[in-house]
Amino acid sequence: MKTAQSIRLDDYYIIFDESLTYLSAFLKEKKYSQILILADSHTAKLCYPKLLELLPELKSAILIETPDGESNKNLDACQEIWAKMLKAHADRKAVLINLGGGVIGDMGGFSAACYKRGIDFIQVPTTVLSQVDSSIGGKLGVDFKYGKNLIGVFKNPVLVLMSTVWLETLDKRQIVNGFAEIFKHALIQSPIQWKILSEATELPPTDFEQVLYDSLLVKKQVVETDPYEKGWRKILNFGHTIGHAIEANSLQKDENPLFHGEAIAVGMIMEAYIGTLTSGFPQKDLEEIVKVLTLHYGHYNIPEGSESTIWEAMLLDKKNQNRQILAVVLKAIGQPDIDVEITKELFQKAFNYYRSLA
Ligand SMILES: NC(=O)c1ccc[n+]([C@@H]2O[C@H](COP(=O)([O-])OP(=O)(O)OC[C@H]3O[C@@H](n4cnc5c(N)ncnc54)[C@H](O)[C@@H]3O)[C@@H](O)[C@H]2O)c1
Ligand SMILES: [Zn+2]
Repeated sequence: MKTAQSIRLDDYYIIFDESLTYLSAFLKEKKYSQILILADSHTAKLCYPKLLELLPELKSAILIETPDGESNKNLDACQEIWAKMLKAHADRKAVLINLGGGVIGDMGGFSAACYKRGIDFIQVPTTVLSQVDSSIGGKLGVDFKYGKNLIGVFKNPVLVLMSTVWLETLDKRQIVNGFAEIFKHALIQSPIQWKILSEATELPPTDFEQVLYDSLLVKKQVVETDPYEKGWRKILNFGHTIGHAIEANSLQKDENPLFHGEAIAVGMIMEAYIGTLTSGFPQKDLEEIVKVLTLHYGHYNIPEGSESTIWEAMLLDKKNQNRQILAVVLKAIGQPDIDVEITKELFQKAFNYYRSLA
């Protein structure tokens, strides 16, 4: 089965399916023994009723609800999910539909991949971040007491369904948050998309579906080239080496911590600046990145005395090699430079540069 608005990735399709007619046909064709739907406390209230409205035949499916949020993406929650699946007598021909953001997609996919050695799962991402990033690429997993995403597997869904209908209940901050990954995809691989996005004054732009489609093509090309992150896939980490450390620092120190994408926006500015020092990234392009990202994310006042905590967090990055902090910077818009060492001196300069933008 294939429709016009679709992207093929490995052996499955990403389908733009606003009315869910494709899902209906897909489920009929697959003849699953049972359909289970995983939602968190928000998506169970806000998205599940819409899902039933669009596809009344799913009324007989079993809803598994789990508490929302990153703090509930763990093995305890998986155990609850597995227990509910067993209680529902789900066998190996059952399918799990993950209806939610990245937390539900990562944890539901992981739960399905482990349940009775693996059942099919379908991703129905309901946040911008999960649509453009976490629902594709095959990385599944949960957080563990020593850190984020430490326990997991690589496995593809049988189907990913994209629809803008879910975004109606998503607040503006969450939408803009997810857009950081869309900006990132454009900056690492697509000067044309960057040009289009840099002209958008509002997020999401009116042609959101097209923007999402183009952005997904970037992630598709990258993960297909390097599915297990041996090399090229690292380019998806642009903005994340410093951004993750800023996110962790904000979680510790800010009353209202940054969302992931907001921290990555800061990281992208700092790493783009580093590119001007190490890789010949043009100053005028840096200035444009600063202008565009500041328009949508504002300027973040990094809490006083955070330099050393952020630097320490960067030293713990699991992507470091031989105690060197290796990051992705830009040579030009659309052209990443991988494995650039960020020394403490470079970090300090980038930090001072970001501060000077206030
Ligand atoms: N697997 C990957 O490759 C990958 C990539 C990037 C991020 N991630 C993971 O994704 C997660 C973050 O994803 P996220 O930002 O979607 O977070 P999330 O799943 O926690 O969703 C954010 C919030 O929005 C709510 N929500 C979801 N859909 C909604 C809707 N349509 N209307 C109203 N509220 C809604 C959720 O209940 C939650 O409170 C992290 O755990 C991160 O590790 C994974
Ligand atoms: Zn990210």
